[in-house]
Parts: sequence; C-alpha cells; structure tokens
Amino acid sequence: MKLTGKEELVKVIKDRIKKEKGISFRDFMDMALYYPELGYYTSPKAKIGGFGDFFTASELDPAFGELLGKQFVEIYNKLNEKPFQIVEIGAGKGYLAHDILKYIKENHPEVYKNTEYILIEKSPYHIKLQKEILKDFEIVRWVQDIIDFEDESITGVIFSNELFDAFPVHIIRKVNGKIYEVYIELDEEENVKEVLREPSEEIIKYIKELNINIPEGMQTEINLDAKDYIQKIAKKLKKGYVITIDYGYPSAELYKPYRMRGTLLCYHKHRYSENFYENVGLQDITSHVNFSALSYYGKIAGLETTGFTDQAHFLTNLGLMDIFAQLQERDDIEAYERINRLKTLVLPKGMGEKFKVLVQHKNVENPQIKGLEILPFMSDRYKL
Ligand SMILES: C[S@@+](CC[C@H](N)C(=O)[O-])C[C@H]1O[C@@H](n2cnc3c(N)ncnc32)[C@H](O)[C@@H]1O
Repeated sequence: MKLTGKEELVKVIKDRIKKEKGISFRDFMDMALYYPELGYYTSPKAKIGGFGDFFTASELDPAFGELLGKQFVEIYNKLNEKPFQIVEIGAGKGYLAHDILKYIKENHPEVYKNTEYILIEKSPYHIKLQKEILKDFEIVRWVQDIIDFEDESITGVIFSNELFDAFPVHIIRKVNGKIYEVYIELDEEENVKEVLREPSEEIIKYIKELNINIPEGMQTEINLDAKDYIQKIAKKLKKGYVITIDYGYPSAELYKPYRMRGTLLCYHKHRYSENFYENVGLQDITSHVNFSALSYYGKIAGLETTGFTDQAHFLTNLGLMDIFAQLQERDDIEAYERINRLKTLVLPKGMGEKFKVLVQHKNVENPQIKGLEILPFMSDRYKL
C-alpha cells in the first residue's frame, strides 16, 4: 500500500520505519495523529464540525453541556468541598466547556464562584480555540498533562468526551490459535506492508487480565494507552468522580465474532474508511473504547465503578425531556431545528446507544448520581 497524505509527515514516518526496521501500528497511529505540528490533531486544520471530518455531541446542541453542568452541580453539593475542581481532558474546540460553564455561571453563581475549571489538551491548535471561546470565564485554566497534578490533589470531577477513542491503539490478529501484533514495514518500492510479529508481554497480560476471548481470525485493537491513562487519572483524584463519555462496549460485546475486523476507522470530510495509510495527517483514526478495561484498571488504581449507562439514559435522567418540552412549546424554526438535533443525542441510531457513560468514584459515600437513576436493560452491551 502506498503511504499518502501530508508529504512531510509521510517522510518522517517512512524514515522512522526504515531506521527501526518496522514500527508497531500503535506507533504509526500515534505519529499520524499527534506528531508535533504535522499530526492530525497537532496541526492547524478544522477537524470537528461541519467544515471538519466528524461531529461530536458537544457541537450539536448546548443541552449536552447544560445537562452535564446539572450533573456537576449535584456532585458539587454531594462532595461539599471547596474549591471544587472540574478537569476536562481533550476538550477539542471547547464548546462543551463553554456550555457547562455558561450553565453553571448563569444558574448557580455560588457554585461557579467556588469552582476551578481546568483543561488538559494535547493539540496546540485546539488550545488556541479553547482560549478564545472561554475568554469570558475567569475560573478556567490550562494544565499541560494529567501527570502535572500532585497525587491525590483533585477534588471534584475529571471527565472527558471522546478522548479515549482518539488514543493510538495496538492491532492484534489471531492466526492458528496464536495472537500476533501488527507491525508496519516498507517494501523495495517504499510502500507500507503489514507484518505479524510476536505481541508484547503487556498485550498478552491485558488479554488475560480482562479474560478476553479473541475468536480465530479476528483482527482487533488493544488500547494500552487507555489502561495507563485511567490509572494516572485515578492516582490524581483525591475525592470525587471520573466520568467518561465515549463510544464503545464492554469486552464481552467488543470482541464478538461479528466484529472480525475490529472497530478501527478513519474519518475524512464526514466519510469513513479503513484506509489507515492514506490521507496521513489529514484524517482522524479512531476506535471503540473497551469500558471493561477502564473499569477494571481504574479499580486496581483506586476507582470504584459507580455505574455504566448510555448517553440516552444519562441525559434523560438529567432532564433532557424537559428541554424537549420547552422547545416544543415554542413555534419557531430555531426550536424545530434544536429538537431535531437533540434527537440525534438520544436516538439509538444516532448517538443515544452508541455512546456510553462510565461513572467511577473515589472516597464518596452514597455515590449514586442522578445521571444513573434509570439504567438500560443489562445485556452484554452493558455488563462490564
Ligand atoms: C475526538 S476529539 C474530542 C474533542 C471534544 N471532547 C469534543 O467532544 O468535541 C479528541 C481530543 O482529545 C485530545 N487528546 C488526545 N489525547 C490527549 C491526551 N493524552 N491529553 C489531552 N488531550 C488529548 C485531542 O487533541 C482532541 O482535541
């Protein structure tokens, strides 16, 4: 396969493959998405939204941020500690932060006064956009990396929307009963070719620890970066919650035989493909999140799992139907358009079922929260 995309980036990747005589798919994906200044997320180009490559819930309607804001206010009252911290990781263009902050500032000024909103973002381009859109909120600040916090120093909520799906993943394949890892090498014409190598011990350990049964012939992803990251988050939290919103499944569903090609996809101008090696640096590459892994490794690092649900149930528990009702009472085009957008947030074929919400907590008595009040039917899609 020919490696195409941003020429400079293609060259850097090829040089590394030559020098190291092959690199793992994970390292290729990491460079394609995050290579300084040239990677998909690190370069200045519209990614999310109409002129970008994909939409996220944060872009759709302010109701998403308002309802999350409502959830955070409940948590603020439950924890009863000041200052209260909201840490958002991978905030993208900052729309969600904007809607959450606007809701809290306008409706709960006392909570706003006692809150610090901290953003962690890997993309310099997104940080610039975030600084612009959040300039009227004086309680906002940026931290470079989660590891910059002292251990057990955060009281409040650490949350993300579509963060873990953007982490680079290892690809594995099961052939004749044995697990291999996909590496990338170059042939004589400098085209990329995938080769199978022995997997790292970490991958084998992950499969064993999570009790994953990979069907014969399946190619799928292992997100070791997510495992490390949830443990880092757990370490930094003193008291409060971790809320992860993303698309994905528990292990039992993720590795079912009908997903023989795994879940990795590229997004470019709102079209998806499985051509990871074209449009390098110009297209998103993303995979479904394994929520069993976040729950399991979070627990080892001190996070209890409070509950696991989908976006439709979570938002409905927090009052989405009230927002629908208010809009329905109005008789104008904006209300009509908002109702349609809100449907995308909850309908099963839209984001409602595909997107899940994992809530974890640490040092909280009576940890149940409003977003988890009514849960979906506990099929394999929800059993962690
Ligand atoms: C798919 S976008 C989602 C953006 C936003 N949360 C939304 O809902 O629109 C993923 C974001 O996570 C950021 N990101 C990826 N890895 C990160 C990391 N380790 N730390 C901080 N941000 C990260 C990316 O730069 C990007 O802005």
